[in-house]
Amino acid sequence: MRIGVVHGPNLNLLGTREPEVYGRATVDDVNAAVGALAAELGVEVEFFQSNHEGALVDHVQEAAGRVRGFVVNAGAYTHTSIALRDALAGVARPYVEVHLSNVFARERFRHRSYLAPGAVGVVSGFGAESYRLGLRGLVEYLNGSA
Ligand code: DQA
Repeated sequence: MRIGVVHGPNLNLLGTREPEVYGRATVDDVNAAVGALAAELGVEVEFFQSNHEGALVDHVQEAAGRVRGFVVNAGAYTHTSIALRDALAGVARPYVEVHLSNVFARERFRHRSYLAPGAVGVVSGFGAESYRLGLRGLVEYLNGSA
């Protein structure tokens, strides 16, 4: 089983970007932690980051042929992107929406997600651990045990 992990805009800055909100882990640290869990779970993972909405849409379409599902932190596009929502719906792969921060404890504009209604679940507020929780939940879902 192969899972795609997708990071949206500004997540390439993790480690130095507002560390009081997002922590000190870099995107490579996050990927390494997710990769270690994937190995434990016996699944393969592939990673993609882009700051561009269209590139994320292209990636979802292109990766869908290889992966059983996605763990997605769409960053700010979570709150704005009908195109990314439609891409995820269009490829019909289950996905989990994840956020490092607790978006519901932040500004109101972060409370709306265009992706959440189509997601298997949402994990928000556990820092880099959100991705690992999301991966675990998605794999259990795909294995039919959640
Ligand atoms: C984020 C939350 C979003 O509101 C924000 O735009 C991000 C990161 C998070 O992981 O907490 O870029 O998705």
